[in-house]
This record gives sequence, structure tokens and C-alpha cells, in this order.
Amino acid sequence: MTNNKMAYNIDWILPNLRNPTKLWSIASSITVAAVGLFSKILIQWLNKTKIHNRHIIADLLDSRPKNVPLITVSNHHSCFDDPGIWGTLKLKHLFSPSVMRWSLAAHDICFTCWQHSYLFSLGKCIPVIRGAGVYQAAVDFCIEQLAKGGWVHVFPEGKVNMTKENIRLKWGVGRMIFESPVTPIVVPIWHTGMDDVLPNDPPYVLQLRKNLTFNYGDPIDMTHMVKMLRAKNATEEEARKHITDFLQDRLLKLKSETEVLHKDNFKAKS
Ligand SMILES: *[C@@H]1O[C@H](CO)[C@@H](O)[C@H](O)[C@H]1NC(C)=O
Ligand SMILES: *[C@@H]1O[C@H](CO)[C@@H](O)[C@H](O)[C@H]1NC(C)=O
Ligand SMILES: *[C@@H]1O[C@H](CO)[C@@H](O)[C@H](O)[C@H]1NC(C)=O
Repeated sequence: MTNNKMAYNIDWILPNLRNPTKLWSIASSITVAAVGLFSKILIQWLNKTKIHNRHIIADLLDSRPKNVPLITVSNHHSCFDDPGIWGTLKLKHLFSPSVMRWSLAAHDICFTCWQHSYLFSLGKCIPVIRGAGVYQAAVDFCIEQLAKGGWVHVFPEGKVNMTKENIRLKWGVGRMIFESPVTPIVVPIWHTGMDDVLPNDPPYVLQLRKNLTFNYGDPIDMTHMVKMLRAKNATEEEARKHITDFLQDRLLKLKSETEVLHKDNFKAKS
């Protein structure tokens, strides 16, 4: 794996995110708010978008206990999914950078030069090295943020889905949940239509007036499962597999539900 794209060194990013300078914090706040506003305009106003159960995320962002972290997991259909999904949030959340998510982004796609690296890391994206497994710096960083009661978003499929099949979820999210000092609340999200807004084929131009459905699933309290796994001395590998399999199941249920909603939302007018 020695193509040129990978040559860009990203070692400076995580230390910077851990100990941001004043200037970094200001630039990051502006980036998060600007990207959020852009996403909202594009997703909620320039496309035909239906959002289901937004109150689930809004309530958790407003009033979950300060020490309780949040993990959102969703399907991955286009390179605009994050930030696009967050176009469904309220403006007051988009304009509160400390409330907004940390998100894992592929280092070989988003962090290939310094300009992009600045943009994505100011936007609270963390470079994850795909194929490097669950014990890597990006996942450690997420666990640190969870320990502070933060919000981490993961696309556990680990890549944009361009196939017809269901993809097995990656175990990183299982490790985060198992190792977080306070077990996170997990919210699954399913969306349909994002691959029409940013097609996965050239020329990769954002599209307008597409039919989009976003569905926030019920929050999942993983505390009991984590306790049970600890009580029976599950190995870390068993634990993260068990947790991830469970989430995969919930995500697929939400998928079926959302596909029905989407059909219903956008029935052809006869
Ligand atoms: C992947 O995309 C296909 C086609 O859009 C869809 O049928 C399938 O459910 C998707 N799988 C996942 C896991 O997103
Ligand atoms: C788990 O390990 C602890 C300490 O090693 C031991 O006391 C306990 O009996 C074990 N529990 C099970 C269910 O194996
Ligand atoms: C989008 O929704 C409208 C109804 O609101 C429907 O007539 C149209 O066929 C849908 N477009 C696609 C591509 O499904």
C-alpha cells in the first residue's frame, strides 16, 4: 500500500484535536457551523426531504446527562452522508460546535493533502486508517471523547455501499461501546436517497430536488449487554462481536422500516 495518496503525513492531527489552540477552536467552530448551515440548506430546503423521529436526536443533544456519551450509527450511501445527515438537525445544534459529533473519516480519501486535512479536522472528522483494525489511534481518540460525554458518529460499514448486498459491520464501534467508561446511548439512523444527491459516479456534483428520507431509530441502551458481557468474562473480541452483531440487526430492522416510509413519502402521483 504505497500509493502516493498515502504519503501525506497525518500524525499532527490527533495531537492538535486533543489540545487545540485558541485559534484552532475558533476556526473549528466556524467550520462546523458553516458546514452545518450548508448541509441544512442543501438537504432540508433544496431537496425533497422527509425526516422521521428527529425528536430522538434533538432530545438527546438537549438533555442527556452530561456524562453520558452518544454514538450514532448509520448506513453509508454517498460521500456527502456526513455532513448531509446533520442537515436534518436543528440550527441551534449545528451552531453549537461542542455539541456536534466527532466523525470517523477515511484517511486515504479525506486526509490526502494539508488543505483537506485542515478542512476535515476543523470539521471534527478523525482520520481512520481502514484495514488497520480496532486498536488504532482514531478509535482510541473516539473512546476519549466518549469518556467526556461526547458524541461520536460511525459508519460501521466502513465504506460507501455501492453493492446490492448487506455489508458486515466493522467491530470498531463494538470496541468503543465496550470500553467507554460510561456506556453510550446508541441511536441508529437509516437514510434513503443520498446516493441521488451526491452520485457515486463522476462528475460527483451535488444534485437538487431529490427524494430523501431520514429515519432516527429508538435509542438503544447498551448498559445491560455490556454488564452481562463483563459478568461472563467475555474476551474483548467476543464482546465487540456480540455488540456489533446486535447493532447490525437493529440497523437492518430500521432499514426495512425506512424503505416502507420512503415509498410512502414519495408515491408517484397519478
Ligand atoms: C447497499 O445498497 C443497496 C442498493 O442501494 C441496498 O439494497 C442495500 O440494502 C444496501 N446495504 C446496506 C447495508 O446499506
Ligand atoms: C470471571 O472471572 C472472575 C475473576 O477472574 C471469576 O471470579 C469469576 O468466577 C469468572 N466468572 C465466570 C462467569 O467465569
Ligand atoms: C419523488 O417523489 C415524487 C412524489 O413526491 C414521485 O412522483 C417521483 O417519482 C419520485 N422520484 C423518484 C426518482 O423516485
